[in-house]
Amino acid sequence: MNCSDIVTIADLRNIKVLLRVDFNVPMKDGVVQDLSRIKQVFPTIAFLKKAGAKIILMSHLGKPTEREEKLSLRNLIKTIEKEYNSNITFIDDCLDENAKRTISDSPPGDLILLENLRFYPGEIACDDGFAKKLAGLAELYINDAFSASHRKHASICAVPKFLPHAFGLSFRNELYILDYFFNNAPSPKMIIVGGSKLSTKVNLLKNLVKKTNKLALGGGIAGAFLAYHENSSIKIFDGEEYANEVAEILKNAKEHKCELILPVDFSALVSKYDHSDYAVISSSNANTSIFDIGPESVELFKRHLRESACVLWNGPLGLFERTPFDFGTISVAREVAALSRRGKLVSITGGGDTAFAMSKFGITKDLTYQSTSGGAFLTYLEENALPGIIAMKYPLTLDFAVPSEE
Ligand code: 3PG
Repeated sequence: MNCSDIVTIADLRNIKVLLRVDFNVPMKDGVVQDLSRIKQVFPTIAFLKKAGAKIILMSHLGKPTEREEKLSLRNLIKTIEKEYNSNITFIDDCLDENAKRTISDSPPGDLILLENLRFYPGEIACDDGFAKKLAGLAELYINDAFSASHRKHASICAVPKFLPHAFGLSFRNELYILDYFFNNAPSPKMIIVGGSKLSTKVNLLKNLVKKTNKLALGGGIAGAFLAYHENSSIKIFDGEEYANEVAEILKNAKEHKCELILPVDFSALVSKYDHSDYAVISSSNANTSIFDIGPESVELFKRHLRESACVLWNGPLGLFERTPFDFGTISVAREVAALSRRGKLVSITGGGDTAFAMSKFGITKDLTYQSTSGGAFLTYLEENALPGIIAMKYPLTLDFAVPSEE
């Protein structure tokens, strides 16, 4: 294709576009459980269809080590056809010589779907040979899979070496909202980080305390900080090994004037056999296993939310899958939703468990932005970059404007 820096709708007519999407969706008995990732890339697909491009969708699903029928993208065809109101031509083997012919023969407007990229060892190995073969199917590569772009895999990092490349609309949106939070959003900014293990979020916290006015911690992560602070005997998953890291995060927070908000009470299990047998305990008395933040902590978090202009939230505050330990997450989530609805708070949430919790509580629609990314969201917050962004060395700008039909 003719490459100037800006690609308009007119440039895309009959152009074969290799579109990296993330169709790594939860499935149960062959049925897609959450359509968010499929819906999210629809605007890019609709634009390319309108342009008359040939759209070749490629994605991974799960973590297969060889061809596995239950992880075949064939299982998604009906759902995708319904969601996009398009026919799908499925290519069982993207390395087969016939793949090119199938693409050439398919009518413009039809969508072509390649089989699960992880059925090929070259994908995870980020093999240039495999990437070249993928690139040989098309004339333009578009990455619209922010949520997979923390992976140094061929379809993310190697294909752009061999094709003109650009970011899709949903990728650009995700980058825009995260950059907005860190660079342009009004203060005070609050970040809430939960989750069970501190080990997975040490670097994240080190980075975040430099960038926010308030950092509220929940879940096992908060337990690790309290154990350090109070020298208490709270049982936490992995806090002990991280005393030095906790000390460094606390020091960074102080230097960068970031207020650290720790829970003041918890819900703890009294009997290991009966989950209805729980008690609220204060943080300094904690001597048993904690499963959620307590009611006073909820009020504390809510007060800080009311004083904030924007919030970014990753990780549940307790064992939200199990009542009564969903109390902390649901109560704080409802406050975020109510403030967002009234236009008092810009709210961004991300991470697999967080997204699941928000949709379980039915509040996703009230949030300003709900990322569908898990690992990629965390990596971007931690490193302010992703391998899939770095790999796009000379990105073209897609101009998504559609001329009005007169
Ligand atoms: C995700 O679900 O976070 C992405 O699709 C990446 O999947 P992976 O963790 O299997 O690489």
